[in-house]
Amino acid sequence: MSDRHQDYENLQIDELNYNSYLKVPELTSLQQLRSEPRHHDEMFFIVIHQSFELWFKEILHEIDLLAAFIDEGNVSRVLKVIKRIIAIMTCLTQQIQLLGTLTPKEFSGFREALGTGSGFQSMQFREIEFALGLRDPWFFQFFEQHPHELDHLKARAEQPSIYDKLLNTLKNIGHDIPDSVTNRDFSVPYEMNERVVEVIRHIYDEPQENYHMVLLFEALIDLDTMWSTWRSVHILMVSRTIGARKGTGGSAGAAFLESRLPLRFFPEIWEVRNAEWNK
Ligand code: HEM
Repeated sequence: MSDRHQDYENLQIDELNYNSYLKVPELTSLQQLRSEPRHHDEMFFIVIHQSFELWFKEILHEIDLLAAFIDEGNVSRVLKVIKRIIAIMTCLTQQIQLLGTLTPKEFSGFREALGTGSGFQSMQFREIEFALGLRDPWFFQFFEQHPHELDHLKARAEQPSIYDKLLNTLKNIGHDIPDSVTNRDFSVPYEMNERVVEVIRHIYDEPQENYHMVLLFEALIDLDTMWSTWRSVHILMVSRTIGARKGTGGSAGAAFLESRLPLRFFPEIWEVRNAEWNK
């Protein structure tokens, strides 16, 4: 074989290609079924959940960028990132519906293989909620056996959320946001503050002064709406798959999930929009 031919052969082996760049062999070896005998639908269940976790990873990646643009007060870049996060969430809301093709009988055929595995233990889901501003220490209990995940979540809970950062930026550009809000202990769940609500109300009432900020609030309402839409579609899917049965994580199942439906990442913006009709 000529030297040139040998070089070409080596290049073929080392050359980055679709499979090596994306690590497809590694990725497609991660679906390890536990049902015994193997249940056909367990593969479907694992692929859906794993792809959710990949998208959660991407959402967290975008949230970091969002945080940086909020700190800079760069509203157009903030809007662009929120648009992408909402597009991913829209896709996830469609994706959960795939599970509508799993009948209760099919699911019960391999449910035991999950043990006590539950969405409660999705660290990335909880991290997204924490990062956006919904923080409930009750959920730490699901990570107690996993100190690395617990520490990671606790660290996130101590950082200002996207909403805290937005309030800080509003303060920096001259709005009357109290120090008690911007300097608070971020690990304590946020409580509505009347002065902050007043600032948001003023921005909505005088849009010509700050129209880009109104657009930003509206984008956050879109994001909140899409997260709640995911919650509703998940509940409907849970009801049609396990009815009123308890969840593998030990909760009351659909009834528990319904109790979380009214939660909002940005309640003060909702408050201002809703109050418009109570004048
Ligand atoms: C047949 C499919 C599914 C069923 C029957 C189901 C059922 C449930 C139930 C009953 C809960 C309440 C906690 C518990 O007691 O376990 C729950 C929570 C959760 N599930 Fe699912 N689920 C399914 C699919 C999914 C998928 C595909 C995801 C995507 C990641 C997901 C993510 C979550 C999350 C994040 C929670 C916690 C929700 C919260 O704390 O607000 N679930 N699920």
